[in-house]
Amino acid sequence: MVASHLLAHPNRFVAQDRMLTDTVRWGTVDSTSLRLMGQIGYDELIEAAASSGYVAPDLGGIWATAPYLHNGSVPTLWHLLHAEDRPERFWIGGHALDYEFVGIAGEIDEAGTYVYPDGYEPWSRPFLYDTREPGRSNQGHEFMTSSEAGKRALLEYMKVK
Ligand code: HEM
Repeated sequence: MVASHLLAHPNRFVAQDRMLTDTVRWGTVDSTSLRLMGQIGYDELIEAAASSGYVAPDLGGIWATAPYLHNGSVPTLWHLLHAEDRPERFWIGGHALDYEFVGIAGEIDEAGTYVYPDGYEPWSRPFLYDTREPGRSNQGHEFMTSSEAGKRALLEYMKVK
């Protein structure tokens, strides 16, 4: 049997005007924060540079890392693929995983909040994530215009990445 190994990840940088996800994180990396990182020795641990966008992440094990996008603003992979249905507010913490939608298990309540399934008892204190707060926008990464069947296939593929 031949096993596959990841030999390199290209660190593909995607500019803001293409990705359109929240700008706050890349915006905080400027000459001042880079200088401070140097002063505390943090620059020996990460390679940081000022830019205007994000690097596409490796999707290996993505099924286990909800919520999604760099700011954790999207509760499931299904919502990532259905941008128009991403919830404005959702609970996170002590949640159960949903293996069909892939991510935080929940449902939309009458106020439009993505809440834990009826009767579910979180095992740690949950936090209400509100995408209207600064740095928490759930916009962008909306260019997957595939059919519903195509999105379903992508979701199944990401489960085994
Ligand atoms: C089949 C199409 C695609 C799928 C299924 C997909 C999937 C994903 C997923 C699941 C994430 C979230 C990763 C995480 O939270 O750790 C992500 C983020 C990202 N993807 Fe894609 N992607 C696709 C197409 C693309 C394309 C075409 C580009 C480049 C133009 C791209 C660039 C990025 C970038 C830069 C991020 C990070 C964005 C952020 O966190 O703000 N993706 N992608």
